[in-house]
Amino acid sequence: MSLRSDAYIDGQWRGGGKRFAVLNPATQEQIAEVPDLGAAEAEEAIAAAHKAFLAWAAKSAKERASVMRAWYDLMMADIDRLAALISREGGKPVAEAKGEAAYGASFVEWFGEEAKRAYGRTIPTTTATRRYVTIKQPIGVCAAITPWNFPMAMITRKAAPAIAAGNTIVLKPPSQTPLTALALAELGERAGLPAGVFNVVTTHDHTSEIGRVFCESPLVRKFSFTGSTEVGKKLGAVCVGSTVKRVSLELGGNAPLIVFADADLDLAVKGTIASKFRNAGQTCVCANRILVEDAIYDAFSKKLADAVAKLKVGPGDEAGVEIGPLIDGKAIEKVERMVAEALASGAVALTGGKTHAAGAQFYTPTVLTNVTREMRVNREEIFGPVAPLIRFKSENEAVSIANDTPFGLASYFFTRDVNRAWRVAERIESGMVSINDGIFSNEVIPFGGWKESGLGREGGVEGLEEYLETKFVNFGGFV
Ligand code: SIN
Repeated sequence: MSLRSDAYIDGQWRGGGKRFAVLNPATQEQIAEVPDLGAAEAEEAIAAAHKAFLAWAAKSAKERASVMRAWYDLMMADIDRLAALISREGGKPVAEAKGEAAYGASFVEWFGEEAKRAYGRTIPTTTATRRYVTIKQPIGVCAAITPWNFPMAMITRKAAPAIAAGNTIVLKPPSQTPLTALALAELGERAGLPAGVFNVVTTHDHTSEIGRVFCESPLVRKFSFTGSTEVGKKLGAVCVGSTVKRVSLELGGNAPLIVFADADLDLAVKGTIASKFRNAGQTCVCANRILVEDAIYDAFSKKLADAVAKLKVGPGDEAGVEIGPLIDGKAIEKVERMVAEALASGAVALTGGKTHAAGAQFYTPTVLTNVTREMRVNREEIFGPVAPLIRFKSENEAVSIANDTPFGLASYFFTRDVNRAWRVAERIESGMVSINDGIFSNEVIPFGGWKESGLGREGGVEGLEEYLETKFVNFGGFV
């Protein structure tokens, strides 16, 4: 795998014109310059995907699966270079980036296999002269906009089910991390993906114009977006309002992590760190607010702060680093502002609470106590390495605080009481609940949210359904 820095449309590497710089967030060094494409190239990529669709859809699932398998094998053979690239443009530590590369590749392997099982149904007839069946078919051209926090996995979680099911896809990767997307295109080309099946349109200044083309184009039959709730609502409205296309939205979260007094505190500390500090707190499923039962609040806070203070901060390629930089200056400013507001309103930083000496975009892992429900760190997604601890007195109060948000993506809780485990899992309003575990993502589960956290599911059998149409067929006139 070489470093590709041109866009990829209709099986061609497309350079030329204006380009923009991709920077390493740890050092601000330029890694490459990538084409700043616009609406015309987005239309061109959609036309290429449209042209490629019928031939790709006509292949058997087994034929498509063998290309997917080759794509997966190439990703795994190049996992170290993919990890280095993910870390370099996205900032996460190399070991964590390697985890993402394996996670990203797993969608390609899994959906290639699973598309062989895209079964329809036979439906018992209501009339002796008829027979009923449903068949599953690809939707057509899909378009996707993906985020920078998982430069690889958020692409494959959409592109793999789309392509395995017989669709073609046009992708706009984020301007901060387009290089991993282009590396995937190169590996896909080598694996045998025909021209036009997977297209990557890079941009910096024309994101909203390309988004509009994706959402309004009558040739695009399905649109998938991962990003903020604010943007997702607007794009979803255009998709439906213009051409009633199928939409999947994976949007913001405000995940509660509840530690009950009966929890194994060491396990809860480990799980909190895994969930809260993954990718320096920059995931949609990161625990955003930690609710801790009164009886163990002080003991848990101390244990957590001691462990957090030991996390090693630095550039992603430095040995042993656990917390990399935040993605850009805006991200640092937001975290600084939210922490300053909390401290001014009475919160206390047990550790951290300030930027880090490693560089302008590093923030010290932070634990805040005395946090109240009114504070912004409880109400809004922080997207940084800050753990705000809120005190609660009863299970009912914990569930009520947890559900008091327009979001409902992930939630976590720690308890040793099996009755409570069922009770709370059922009462929490979120698409994913993790009990006694801070990490749960993988390719076989349905990832997605309730409420304003999104529409649809990615991963698992549900994730394949998102890229299939169900067609009912009536065989009439039987004698
Ligand atoms: C996300 O932040 O949206 C993705 C996290 C994951 O897949 O675990």
